[in-house]
Amino acid sequence: MKIAIIKETLAGETRVAVTPDTVKKLGALGHTLNLEKGAGMIAGYTDDAFKDAGAKIAASAKAALGDADVLFKVRAPSDTEIKVLPENLTVIALMDPFALDPAALNAGKITALSMEFTPRISRAQSMDALSSQSNLAGYRAVIEGAGIYGRAMPMMMTAAGTVAPAKVFVMGAGVAGLQAIATARRLGAVVTATDVRPAAKEQVASLGAKFVAVEDDEFKEAETAGGYAKQMSAEYQAKQAELVAKHIAKQDIVITTALIPGRAAPVLVTADMVAAMRPGSVIVDMAVSQGGNCPLSEPDIVVDSGGVKVAGFSNLAMHLPADSSALYARNLLAFLPLITAENGSLNLDTDDEIVIAMMLTRDGNTVNERLKG
Ligand code: NAI
Repeated sequence: MKIAIIKETLAGETRVAVTPDTVKKLGALGHTLNLEKGAGMIAGYTDDAFKDAGAKIAASAKAALGDADVLFKVRAPSDTEIKVLPENLTVIALMDPFALDPAALNAGKITALSMEFTPRISRAQSMDALSSQSNLAGYRAVIEGAGIYGRAMPMMMTAAGTVAPAKVFVMGAGVAGLQAIATARRLGAVVTATDVRPAAKEQVASLGAKFVAVEDDEFKEAETAGGYAKQMSAEYQAKQAELVAKHIAKQDIVITTALIPGRAAPVLVTADMVAAMRPGSVIVDMAVSQGGNCPLSEPDIVVDSGGVKVAGFSNLAMHLPADSSALYARNLLAFLPLITAENGSLNLDTDDEIVIAMMLTRDGNTVNERLKG
């Protein structure tokens, strides 16, 4: 199979879809790799390292694409990028499927596979890019929050007096939230966390944090078969807000990660709650690009609201490009066998539930049930 890699063009994107390590492994499987020059530079992977691993370096995106079978990408190709893609190409990327207009892909007869739609079954765990990126983002959220916070995280007993440990509250204990809890604990903070899925309670406790939530009948049924949260009723949200309001006023750093696939992020920290926090406190809103868990947050800036710093980060995985590229590249490597025939050529096995779940477009048509709503 001929695999192409082109430079990501979306502003702020730092990642690349292969690393020298995965290039070597793909080469050993008999695939050829054409990489646009400089595609890995921001993430710290040089052309020379890719060349040593067996990739061919192309002078332009067009040259890298040539007559490729598959394009590995981090982000969905833009309309401008789609114009240079050869017809019938298969693209595998974080397609942002719910925000995507598939018209240009269909016009170019592009088969698009969305890494976000990797089903949450054990066979697909090694391919799950949402998890690999969220894990790193959760870690980074705490590092960013600690950087903005004007006090120390751990308790320190010094000759000049004692420094109290920071109180960190993590809202949404999924992949990112659990990593945020673990990171904040490692830094010495006193950590509490909340979620609407009952499964999260034990996971939070196992990381040494205290679980804070309204545990009524609705809570007991708040997890979908796919492992995601359901949209909660207005009544539950009001009860949750009351509990959170009291708790949040005593917190130093609040990290919000709550998402519901295909919907706007739930508002969990209202302007009134922010006003009740002490000046110097920090909110890190990881859901800002889905509308935010805090209405005051704005993408990629720190808003000062009465001394409380509200930091919205649209994509924290991009702040760790070497690691996030390495894990994403591994996710793609793990997925490739599902679309490879025994002789190594491209073969989209549409009997495989993982391939069906991820395929958005094919032969000029939108084929994914989740996009046909
Ligand atoms: P996500 O990114 O969609 O959401 C983040 C968290 O926000 C979730 O834990 C969700 O329950 C929570 N949330 C939503 N609404 C909320 C509200 N109103 N208040 C508080 N919290 C709220 O979810 P993520 O992190 O991608 O995954 C969720 C779970 O899926 C994981 O914890 C895990 O159990 C499961 N999973 C399973 C996998 C597998 O079996 N292969 C792979 C990855 C995750």
